[in-house]
Amino acid sequence: MKRLALLLALSAPLAAQAGESGLVVFHGKCTRCHGADGRGKAIFNTPSMLTSKLSAAEMEQVIANGRAKMPAFKAQLAPDEIKAVAAFIKAELKP
Ligand code: HEC
Repeated sequence: MKRLALLLALSAPLAAQAGESGLVVFHGKCTRCHGADGRGKAIFNTPSMLTSKLSAAEMEQVIANGRAKMPAFKAQLAPDEIKAVAAFIKAELKP
């Protein structure tokens, strides 16, 4: 948790300059359905991201365009933010 707080503190000023970082996007827009650990929430029927078979590029498609109950984010997030959040999920939420 300490590490997360530090990362958030470090990434906030950067986010203001270069679009929001993957971590900031994830915590701002994704955790309410996917959980802070990415394991999913039964109430939203979200799959665990830790065991996802999707590549980063495939995740970008789902994030941009949505799928079933997963909302589309292309109107809310810039393409580099979608890339950043997919990269964050692949790099940081692995078991
Ligand atoms: C309103 C709830 C909700 C929000 C907010 C949400 N998701 Fe989802 N997400 C879902 C659901 C439900 C699914 C499963 C979709 C399905 O059944 O096909 C999903 C699926 C996914 C998948 C596919 C996982 C896989 O292995 O198939 C990815 C990637 C994903 N979400 C990323 C994100 C990201 C990144 C954000 C934030 C920008 C986000 N989601 C925000 C509900 C949400």
